[in-house]
Amino acid sequence: NIVPVVMAGGSGTRLWPLSRKSYPKQFLKLHGDKTMLQETIERLNGLQTLPSVIIANEGHRFLAAEQLLAEGFHHSGIILEPMGKNTAPAVALAAFHILKCHGDQLMLVLAADHLIEDRDAFTKSVNSAVEYAKQGSLVTFGIVPNQPETGYGYIKRGKACENAYEIDEFVEKPYLSLAEQYLESGEYYWNSGMFMFKASKFLEELKVYQPEIYETCKKAYENSEQDLDFIRISDSDFAPCPEDSIDYAVMENTSDGKVVPMDAGWNDIGAWSSLWEVAEKCENGNHIKGDVISHNTKDSLLHSSSRLIATVGVKDLVVIESSDAVLIADKSEVQNVKAIVDQLKKEK
Ligand code: GDD
Ligand code: MG
Repeated sequence: NIVPVVMAGGSGTRLWPLSRKSYPKQFLKLHGDKTMLQETIERLNGLQTLPSVIIANEGHRFLAAEQLLAEGFHHSGIILEPMGKNTAPAVALAAFHILKCHGDQLMLVLAADHLIEDRDAFTKSVNSAVEYAKQGSLVTFGIVPNQPETGYGYIKRGKACENAYEIDEFVEKPYLSLAEQYLESGEYYWNSGMFMFKASKFLEELKVYQPEIYETCKKAYENSEQDLDFIRISDSDFAPCPEDSIDYAVMENTSDGKVVPMDAGWNDIGAWSSLWEVAEKCENGNHIKGDVISHNTKDSLLHSSSRLIATVGVKDLVVIESSDAVLIADKSEVQNVKAIVDQLKKEK
């Protein structure tokens, strides 16, 4: 059996001012009429799985629970972290929970910030991963890269098996010059940020490469308080856990990695520019939401929540209006929105 694990504890700072600490992007309707969390779970419809485990920040427990309820989604527990420690600890807590509730099942680890256009292709790749995960591999899903993006992991494919490749090398977030070489070589995939493995196998690998994370998460899970919906991890148990992502902590180190290619119209909605790329646009290349009047405006993302936005004679702009803040940015620089959020944090 497969148990999906949805990691929904990120902060989505580059999508400020819509994505906020109290309301990060996975809980927003950025594309279409469902939130990103709801889309992530709905995408599983074509697969045979047990109900998902959700792992999120304690502060978002009602958002998460309500968004599941609104769509009638069942779950196998909502794990609440008192603070974010990145994805390696999050997946470890989920693995301990699955071992306890369902036994040693396959975990399908999913991010809550992806858009996937072709659900059938997604289902097919996930089904192809099952046999390898059962045999003890840590399976990743590889996306053919089309630009030297430095915000992703890169996977060098090795020997071919029937529906997968061995992983020769996994490099998380390389420098631009390396990313360019990887793209050029044609031998690398992007890591999609989704994984499949046995719960026990992940924990074994974590114990080898990051024993401190393993030990603190084991203890933190054992001491958690559980009720019908929530598994609450205590502050004092989790606080000493080192921060690390699954990519650095395990995937760069393991020698049991496999990559299953996925050609499903995958997109990580990391910044406003990626939303503009996938969104529906008018003939001038503008994506418009809410109350907007534009004249001589091209290739822009204009998003109004409460007031009228009017633009004249501009192009490649991102304008995001919310009730208490307005972002105006050059579309090519929206990765740096994070700097604004960092400054706001400092001032508070
Ligand atoms: N529960 C929990 N706790 N979830 C978290 C935490 C945490 O501390 N930190 C991040 N997440 C969630 C995010 O909400 C997101 O859904 C997912 O985990 C991935 O985290 P990101 O912070 O978005 O990772 P990334 O985009 O920088 O990199 C990962 O994804 C790329 C593809 O989108 C890596 O796996 C890369 O290798 C990959 O290419
Ligand atoms: Mg991401």
